[in-house]
Formats: sequence, C-alpha cells, structure tokens
Amino acid sequence: MLSYLHGFHAGNFADVQKHAAQVLALRMMQAKPGGIACFDTHAGSALYDLSSERSRKTAEADQGVQKLWAAGLSLGDDWQPLLAVLTKMNPPGLPLRKYPGSPEWFRRFQRAQDAFTAFELHPTEGEQLSDWAGRGQVRVFREDGLRGLLRQLPPPAPRLLVLMDPSYEIKSDYQQVADTLGRAWCKCRHGVYLVWYPILTTGHEQVLKRAVVDGPVKPVLCSEVHLKRPPTRGMVGSGMLVVNAPWGFEERLAAMLAEVSGEEALDVSTSMNWLVPE
Ligand SMILES: C[S@@+](CC[C@H](N)C(=O)[O-])C[C@H]1O[C@@H](n2cnc3c(N)ncnc32)[C@H](O)[C@@H]1O
Repeated sequence: MLSYLHGFHAGNFADVQKHAAQVLALRMMQAKPGGIACFDTHAGSALYDLSSERSRKTAEADQGVQKLWAAGLSLGDDWQPLLAVLTKMNPPGLPLRKYPGSPEWFRRFQRAQDAFTAFELHPTEGEQLSDWAGRGQVRVFREDGLRGLLRQLPPPAPRLLVLMDPSYEIKSDYQQVADTLGRAWCKCRHGVYLVWYPILTTGHEQVLKRAVVDGPVKPVLCSEVHLKRPPTRGMVGSGMLVVNAPWGFEERLAAMLAEVSGEEALDVSTSMNWLVPE
C-alpha cells in the first residue's frame, strides 16, 4: 500500500534540483528538431498548491522554491525558462502558490513532435493525474512505472528522455530502480535517463549507486546537493543520476545549482561527478 504523497514535499530543495535537471535536459535535447519520447515513471499528481494544508504542514517549499522566488536573485539564462513558467502560473509579488510537478514541466515544454507518457500507481494521485491530462497530448497509465517503461521501449520517436523519480517507500526500490535502468538502457542505449534519489542519514541510496556502478549502464553523471543544516534523521540531500547527459549538460547544471546554493537560497553544497565514465 503506497502512502507517500508528493503534496507534502512539492517545491522543496530536492524538487528544485530535480526539475532544474529535467527542464535543462529536455531543452538541450530540443535544440535538435527530432521528436523525443518523454516518460515520467513516477509522475505524482502534476500540479501542487503550496498554500494547501499538506504543503503548509511541512513548509518544505519555504526552504526550496519559495526562497528562489523571493530572493530576487538575478539568475542566469538556464533558469529563465523555469521562472517564466512559474511567472505564468502565479501573480507577482506574492509567495508562489501553484507549483508544477514533473508532468506539468514536461507538458509546458512539449513540442508537436514530442510524446509524453506518465505512470502513477497511487489511486488518488493517479486519478488527479488523469484529470489533469484530459484529452491533451499526454498518455497516463495508472500502473507500475518501472514495468510500464520496459514495456514501452524502444519508443517510436527517434529520441528518448526518461525521468525516474520513485518515492523509495520500499527498501528494495533502490535495487529495482538500478535493475530497471540497466534493462531499459539495454533496450534503448541512446536514451537520456534521469534517476532521482534521496541522500539519507542511513545511506540506503548507496545500494542504488553501487548497483549502477556494477551494472552495464554508461556514462552516468551524478549531481548531488547536500543541506548545510541537515536534520539529524531522514533526508539530508538530493541526488540525480544522468545517463547520456547531452553535451555541455554537466557544466550548465553545475552552474545553475551553484547560483542557488547560497544561504539566501537553498543553503546547500553541491557536487558533480562521473559515477560511471564513458
Ligand atoms: C516523488 S513522487 C513523484 C513526484 C513527481 N515526479 C514530481 O517531480 O513532481 C513519487 C510518486 O511515485 C508514485 N509511485 C510509487 N511507486 C510507484 C510505481 N511502482 N509506479 C508508479 N508510481 C509509483 C507515488 O505514488 C508518488 O506519487
């Protein structure tokens, strides 16, 4: 039984890193005209209200996207497309209220030649996702996203972008994500794969990272952000594995994260390494 609801965490520092990487990868791939098949294996409910009871209960967005929004930082070019989306969805001069989840970020940048498929297993999240998708250019499957992805590969579109963003409620998820990544890569080696993971005081994420190092997939870039004032238990950082990062992605994502790492923004330290080189 799934109990995780992303509404408690939407817009936190991890979402800022994840959605920055997602939008940067998508836009860099869109520099070429060929269609891209985008897959979101763990989509959530697509749109979040940062003033909702859920969001206010944890107030995680206050230390995340709200800080960027309020800081008035003069952010560089790669942040501008994300800020433009937030500006369209929210009135100026007030805290952000509407925040896009990963499916909405995909849809906002989707071109006519791109396809988008989202998976969500939680019954109420899946229902909201289906309502959000409506009759647009989005396919929603309310089923296991890891199995569903493997069934859909290779896609008809010439290029592939996958976001895997599980809630890791079950410890075996770390190994399962690594296994699925390996099987997906064997079916579609040219695909760009983004895999998010939490950095935990327990260190459980090492299972995922070790399994990826021991598996067939390469090259794998690893971006991490670590809270400078971490809690004593739970999530102390956020990581993203990027397989087949577009050329120049490494430097551009590093620069984006450096811009928002200061005390007035996310208050994090950042790192960027090759977990598995070419
Ligand atoms: C971290 S949240 C997703 C957040 C979303 N990707 C975003 O960035 O806005 C993870 C989601 O995965 C869903 N989930 C958990 N296990 C799943 C599975 N095996 N297949 C599909 N969805 C799953 C959860 O219900 C939850 O909504």
